Amino acid sequence: MRRTAVFPGSFDPLTTGHLDLIERGCRIFERLIVAVAVNPRKQCLFTTGERMAMIGEAAAHLGDAVEVDFFDGLLVNYARSKGACAILRGLRVVSDFEYEFQMASMNRHLAPEIETLLVIPGEGNHYVSSGIVKEVAAFGGDVTGLVPPTVHSHLLRRVGRSETGR
Ligand code: PNS
Repeated sequence: MRRTAVFPGSFDPLTTGHLDLIERGCRIFERLIVAVAVNPRKQCLFTTGERMAMIGEAAAHLGDAVEVDFFDGLLVNYARSKGACAILRGLRVVSDFEYEFQMASMNRHLAPEIETLLVIPGEGNHYVSSGIVKEVAAFGGDVTGLVPPTVHSHLLRRVGRSETGR
């Protein structure tokens, strides 16, 4: 059995910060499952299928080490069903800590055998979040370099902006 971790998230859309974590996760684990959370109560810009396709495109260079999937319900149930020993999450700034700590603690309560790994993304990715990228793109700001190039064109089209940022 390959040493497996699940990297869960909304990924609406994938940012360079997420991709940085995927690359780091691949160096630690033999198999990394990037799992898109299906939450009907959360309004997303992209469908689950679109988010999965964008992750697949952006992580293609990592080959078989990365799988893209989706899940609904409890994350720990999904992680168990995949034989994962760990959950990978990013920790950008101190304000992320409380939310991540609460989630990691609850997930440990539910599934003590699964460890949560909080990984710090590379410099330059600390202020990048899907939410802020969507907002900037919607108002015509330049988000080049904040999302992978393939995501960039999908994002501009979805928010009704041209490639030139007008
Ligand atoms: O990218 P996000 O939106 O911060 O990801 C949050 C996510 C999807 C990882 C989290 O909401 C989650 O795990 N949802 C699944 C339901 C669940 O297991 N909830 C209890 C976790 S404490």
